[in-house]
Amino acid sequence: MKILVKNKTFSTVDHELAVYFATTKKAGKKTSLQLGKIEKSFQEKINAAFDSGTFQAEFGESAFFRSTELDGAENFVVFGLGDIKKLNAESFRNLGCKLFQLLKSAKLSTASIEASSLLQLFRKPEQISVGLVEGLFLSSYSFSELKKKPEKKPKEPSEISLFVNKKTDETALKKNLQPSVQLAEATNFARWLGDRPGNLMTPKDMAKATVDKAKGTKLKVTVWDKARIKKEKMECLLGVAKGSTEEPRLIVMEYKGAAASKKPICFVGKGLTFDSGGISIKPSPKMEEMKFDMCGGSAVIGTMIAIANLKLKINAIGIVPASENMPGPSANKPGDVLKARNGKTIEVNNTDAEGRLILADALCLASEKKPSAIIDAATLTGAMTIALGDTHTGYFTYDDKLAKAINNASEITNERVWQMPMAPEHLEDMKGAYGDLSNMSSVPGAGSAHAAVFLYEFVDSAIPWAHFDIAGTAWNCGHRQAYMSKKGATGVMVRTFVELAKSWK
Ligand code: BES
Ligand code: ZN
Ligand code: ZN
Repeated sequence: MKILVKNKTFSTVDHELAVYFATTKKAGKKTSLQLGKIEKSFQEKINAAFDSGTFQAEFGESAFFRSTELDGAENFVVFGLGDIKKLNAESFRNLGCKLFQLLKSAKLSTASIEASSLLQLFRKPEQISVGLVEGLFLSSYSFSELKKKPEKKPKEPSEISLFVNKKTDETALKKNLQPSVQLAEATNFARWLGDRPGNLMTPKDMAKATVDKAKGTKLKVTVWDKARIKKEKMECLLGVAKGSTEEPRLIVMEYKGAAASKKPICFVGKGLTFDSGGISIKPSPKMEEMKFDMCGGSAVIGTMIAIANLKLKINAIGIVPASENMPGPSANKPGDVLKARNGKTIEVNNTDAEGRLILADALCLASEKKPSAIIDAATLTGAMTIALGDTHTGYFTYDDKLAKAINNASEITNERVWQMPMAPEHLEDMKGAYGDLSNMSSVPGAGSAHAAVFLYEFVDSAIPWAHFDIAGTAWNCGHRQAYMSKKGATGVMVRTFVELAKSWK
């Protein structure tokens, strides 16, 4: 799908689908339609729809006219904008999604947007272009590659053009267009990694997919195999992987876009390609969803791919410990004690609390790189889905400056976040009887905070750190955001992490 900005008079082109936007204006008792420049014959049709009450230009409404045989366009659609004061980038993500769905269902391949009038109604070109592009591209993602291919390929939208008639408008709309395409595509790549089932996205597959995707970019990918992981004293990652015939991998991605003296920002993601719970096995219902337990890892991979494609002038490192968690003759047993890379010992009192184990070793490695910040993402606790559901990702940090930067980044992307508390008592609850720490709290409640303070035991306290628990937001959010799949990975945090990387000093 191509997105273009054209500085050309709209009415001089014959469009397959002409796209207009409308709002209403009140003058005394009379409410009238505000449309901008539109062909007279179209205007008559849309006014008739307005007068009859079938189209009120509310946000979310649309009026579609097919095979009109009118001059200028074979088909045309008018989208309602509702109250202009309420519009933002998210409104345009939703409009981009609506446009994509209309093109697909009407089997049309191109659309022309009359953007000069739109810009007069709503003077924030960046929110229009970023929103529309992200809405279109995120909606275009679907996962059907494992199904038998249909004999006749359905027509897919291929070209969307934004028409303006001023050079300044052209420049303004073009400014963030291509970066938004790359950001959305990297998010879709993260979604694809998540959607692949466990048998087709093993730790080895995840590493290979990363290496393949990084080809042609400035991203340096290094993959550690089991022997190297052992040599590097990552006993926790090895311990979690022991129950499976699939070997673990540790994926390191390095990007250098600034002077070597500039500290990198470091992202760490849980890449648990299937979490059965291990010996502390999970119940069967919905266990298939545990193929998504690598979505923290896929968010980090997507983030690093985007940073490289956007050629950001920063240094960044991504670290993804990848493993399966399976019951097997050599699996971790409850009570086993493992030693992390920093020498701390952990009593494994529940083999299903494996995410924090593989992250422990990865966070030690991240700390050794002396980055300007460590940001980790993980589908870490069921408790997070209870606390915040699927509308917000909970994050934990002790660093106020980092919290501010995170909140700002999330405002831009509309990937909503909420800061969660941590307390010294939580760490007390995580002390082990036989090891320095237990991987499970000794008291019920606050499961996500217990996991967070556990992770911090493996972070150099001189480095600002934030942990994102994406257990509730990593998949099945289509009923919340129209541009996401009803069922499937969301690629959550890729867009926010890239924003954060751009702004973090
Ligand atoms: N991957 C799960 C967390 C999870 C559960 C994510 C449901 C998304 C939906 C994690 O490895 C896990 O099983 N955590 C346990 C920890 C507990 C045993 C201390 C949990 O949350 O129940
Ligand atoms: Zn688990
Ligand atoms: Zn898990």
